[in-house]
Amino acid sequence: MTTMNVLVIGNGGREHALAWKLAQSSKVSDVFVAPGNAGTAGEPKCTNVPIQADDIPALLAWAKDHAIGLTVVGPEAPLALGIVDRFQAEGLPCFGPSAQAAQLESSKAFAKAFMLRHGIPTAQSKTVTDVASGLDFIDTLGLPAVIKADGLAAGKGVVIAQTRQEAQTTLEQMLGGHAFGEAGHQVVIEEYLSGEEASFIVVASGDEVLPLATSQDHKRRDNDDQGPNTGGMGAYSPAPVVDDALADTIMAQVIRPTMAGLNAEGIPFCGFLYAGIMITETGPRVLEFNVRFGDPETQPILMRLQSDLVPILESALNGTLKDSAIQWDPRVALGVVLAAEGYPGAYEKGRPILGLDGVDTDDIKVFHAGTALDEHKQVVSAGGRVLCLVALGKDTHSAQLKAYAALGAIEMAGGFYRTDIGQRAINRQLPE
Ligand code: AMP
Ligand code: GLY
Repeated sequence: MTTMNVLVIGNGGREHALAWKLAQSSKVSDVFVAPGNAGTAGEPKCTNVPIQADDIPALLAWAKDHAIGLTVVGPEAPLALGIVDRFQAEGLPCFGPSAQAAQLESSKAFAKAFMLRHGIPTAQSKTVTDVASGLDFIDTLGLPAVIKADGLAAGKGVVIAQTRQEAQTTLEQMLGGHAFGEAGHQVVIEEYLSGEEASFIVVASGDEVLPLATSQDHKRRDNDDQGPNTGGMGAYSPAPVVDDALADTIMAQVIRPTMAGLNAEGIPFCGFLYAGIMITETGPRVLEFNVRFGDPETQPILMRLQSDLVPILESALNGTLKDSAIQWDPRVALGVVLAAEGYPGAYEKGRPILGLDGVDTDDIKVFHAGTALDEHKQVVSAGGRVLCLVALGKDTHSAQLKAYAALGAIEMAGGFYRTDIGQRAINRQLPE
């Protein structure tokens, strides 16, 4: 069998998990990760390439020189910059949406208008460019008010204002153009929704969709969903809150109309499509779309994926996704993020991470995120979310126990993590 070289773009926990999984494919000779982290540097068959994820001309030139047969894009920034358009124009297969389709994530105003056009259930909202119109709309909605910077803001562009004063300050800061730069020139104001959140992620191609295993993230920094929003502090799969009936409803009310709407508007979508869903008393509502795999959802989901990922992504690129089958480990995978003191605000880098050797087993895996190798080849922190330790267990509780026990062996000065990852699922499964 002929094998090929694969390029993974990005340097987070998601990209470590993607590289690890793709490297297991018998169809793959080498996985290159640009720029990667200390985890991908040490993974069998994987090699880091020192090119930043948004340097599209350098990535393109490098991919051409190294006979890359498949490129998988992890983060949203290069997608929004049109990396897929550029690779495909040169005949290089690249898994991810075009820049136009990536607007579902890169512009919240675009996403809201799209959902309204296609009857996709979401919070009532208005897009504004000045503080007074924003406050007028908030007066009609009532408090709390959800205020979102239009553009990409790494999960930090959403403020839930409890008072009118806080809403006004937030609007002034975002529209003033300081805190969020370009991302804040338009602001979306939304009705506050209450309920439980879930991540619904599919492989999408034209009008074909292959749903992945269900999952739930933990967006807030602290236990019991307190503290500021983060990129995600831990995740598990499956998410019992998304039972088969709800998954069918989300497919029928959200995913299929989204794909149909994109096709009708002449912007067919190929890539991972991630709907962040609030499960309200009156049904699922879309909080946001992401046009990529979730981080940290990727880590537990891929830990459960038994099928080879390469043919699935290739079939999406070739328009034959409907012929794909997908097998999951029936066990629960649960991942806990170790973050650096200060995250999601400012944090120090370069802190040694000790105790990593010997943690990985058949059912435990440390996926690196913000890590690097220093001049002595010692693993040190290099980001806010440092790693995500994933454990497989027969149920959520046993996966949770295993993950925390294993995490206890890893030391990093100032490192912290939530101690309640998976608790909602465990509570749901306890006898009444
Ligand atoms: P987003 O980036 O749009 O997903 O927002 C980040 C987080 O803010 C979500 O994961 C929710 O926890 C919260 N959030 C966003 N929109 C709303 C809403 N309309 N009502 C309540 N919470 C929200
Ligand atoms: N875990 C949330 C995200 O990837 O956006």
